[in-house]
This record gives sequence, structure tokens and C-alpha cells, in this order.
Amino acid sequence: MEPVYHQPVLAQEIITFFQPGPNNIYIDATLGNGGHTLELLKHGAKVYGIDQDPQNLTIATSRIRANNVSKNFIGINDNFANLEKIISSNNIKCISGILFDLGLSSNQLKSATRGFSFNDSTSLDMRLDPTVQTLTAKEIINTYSAAELFNIFSKYAQEKYSREIADNITTVRKSHPFETSIQLADYIKEFYRQKHQSVHLHPATKILMALRIATNNEYQNVTTALNSCLKLHQTKIALITFHSGEDRLVKQFINQNKQSFSQFSTRPIKPSSSEIRQNHLSRSSLLRTFTLK
Ligand SMILES: C[S@@+](CC[C@H](N)C(=O)[O-])C[C@H]1O[C@@H](n2cnc3c(N)ncnc32)[C@H](O)[C@@H]1O
Repeated sequence: MEPVYHQPVLAQEIITFFQPGPNNIYIDATLGNGGHTLELLKHGAKVYGIDQDPQNLTIATSRIRANNVSKNFIGINDNFANLEKIISSNNIKCISGILFDLGLSSNQLKSATRGFSFNDSTSLDMRLDPTVQTLTAKEIINTYSAAELFNIFSKYAQEKYSREIADNITTVRKSHPFETSIQLADYIKEFYRQKHQSVHLHPATKILMALRIATNNEYQNVTTALNSCLKLHQTKIALITFHSGEDRLVKQFINQNKQSFSQFSTRPIKPSSSEIRQNHLSRSSLLRTFTLK
């Protein structure tokens, strides 16, 4: 039986935008479980698939092999912030399109050992590539000052209790350092309970997301990669975001660089109601595109 893979979002919209065929070369900057890449390969295109997470690169590579379309696939374990170096060291020319499907895949979010999930009782790690990254979420939460934590919670997740939560964490950790994601999530849940505040998602969702963004330097990576894209010509760029902070970053980049594009989306494309019905994770996704002159 096939393993359960992350379901690619807005896949049809990506194909419509890219119009892939046998003469096209794409970079999937966020390979994940290879869902979008598989579609591009099935249309006969060549794909360079990048993922910072070595586990996901392994999963996607074996899935692509199992689908007998690996002939035109090159897998790369790297950070897309190194896009310029990746393009030159692999001598990639005439790139038809680059896809950034930001955030994490469902298997990463659900993993009980990597620290991304609030059910993780073993770790508070959150590094996409533990083989090269040294800073963990655990180190951030247990050593950063209250001002630094406030900055992370408010900037990356617009958490309304950023100041209070940051202050409380720096007090609590003196006697009880945070060791696991479940411990941190339970702490935030209790904080919300005492405030008599109910939220429709788990109350720790925003804090865990902010920590993940900080641990992996996510915003800086996107900005660096987008600036590298400006050096390309006639390449189509597609970006799928999953939360307002990420989308704002992309929207601002597009607005500031309009003069370099022959086409750009003024409004984001949203998933159809039937896609949302069959893949709940797609509900917050937004697609923005531009094509370089
Ligand atoms: C939403 S998933 C992509 C899912 C994929 N499109 C699919 O259909 O399976 C995002 C992926 O990007 C990877 N990623 C996140 N930041 C990255 C970065 N800076 N460089 C390379 N890969 C990154 C994550 O490890 C994850 O596998």
C-alpha cells in the first residue's frame, strides 16, 4: 500500500500557470513529498527538486522512482536561500518556472519526534535540517530574552498576548525549562484558560508557528530567494503561502519589484471549495505569481 503523502495544494492552478511540457525545466524549491514535482514530471518536464529536510528529500525521491518518472528528476538537499549558488553549481539554464510552496508538509507537522506538533512529547527541536542547523526551538525558548521572544511571537504570528507570554516563559523556565512541544503547548493552553479566552484553533498554534519560523529563519530565506529570482529572465515564479505574515512578505516583494515583471498577480488565487472540502489543509493557502521580463 502507498504511504500517505502530503497532498499538494492548488496543483491544478500551478499546472495552468506553468503550462509544463517536455521542453521545460523547473525548480521546485520546496519539494516536500514531491506532489507538485510529480505532476510536472508527468507532463514531461525536467525538475530540480530542492528540500532542506533530508527526510523529505528521501521520501520524494523514492516516490518519484516508484512512479517511474525519475529520469528527468534531480534531487537537491539544500536551503532555497542558496538558490543562486544551486543554479550555478548545477549549471541550470533556461528555467521555465520556480515553485515555492512555503511552510511544512503534513508529515513534518504531524511527526511526533521533530517538535513541530503540539502532541510531541519527545522534542522541541523544529530544525528542518538537524544535520547542519545548530539553533533549536528549545534553545530559543529557554535562552532568549523576554524582548527577543516578544519580537518573535508578535512579528511572526501576531500573537495578541506576545508580551505577557514572553514574560511568563522567562520566569517559568527558571525552575522548569521547556523540554518538549507538548509541555510548551500545555503551558499556553493553561495561560489561555486562565484568561477565559477560547480560540477555535489550539491556543498554542501561533506560538509554535512563530518559533518554527524563527528556528528556520523562514522569512529571511524567502526574501533572499526572491531577490535571487530577480536575476533571472522570462522565468515564471509561483508562491503558495499559508498565513498572513508570509503572504504579506510576498505581496510586498511583488509590489516593490513590478518593473522587473512582464506579468504579476494583483490578487491571490485561492483554492476552490471542492479542494478545501477534500483537503482541509488547503483552506488558508494563497497563490501569487509573477513572470520575470
Ligand atoms: C508545504 S511543503 C511542500 C509540499 C510539496 N509541494 C508537495 O506537494 O509535497 C514545504 C517543503 O519545503 C521545505 N522547505 C521549507 N523551507 C525550505 C527552505 N528554506 N529551503 C528548502 N526547503 C524548504 C520543507 O522542508 C517542506 O518539505
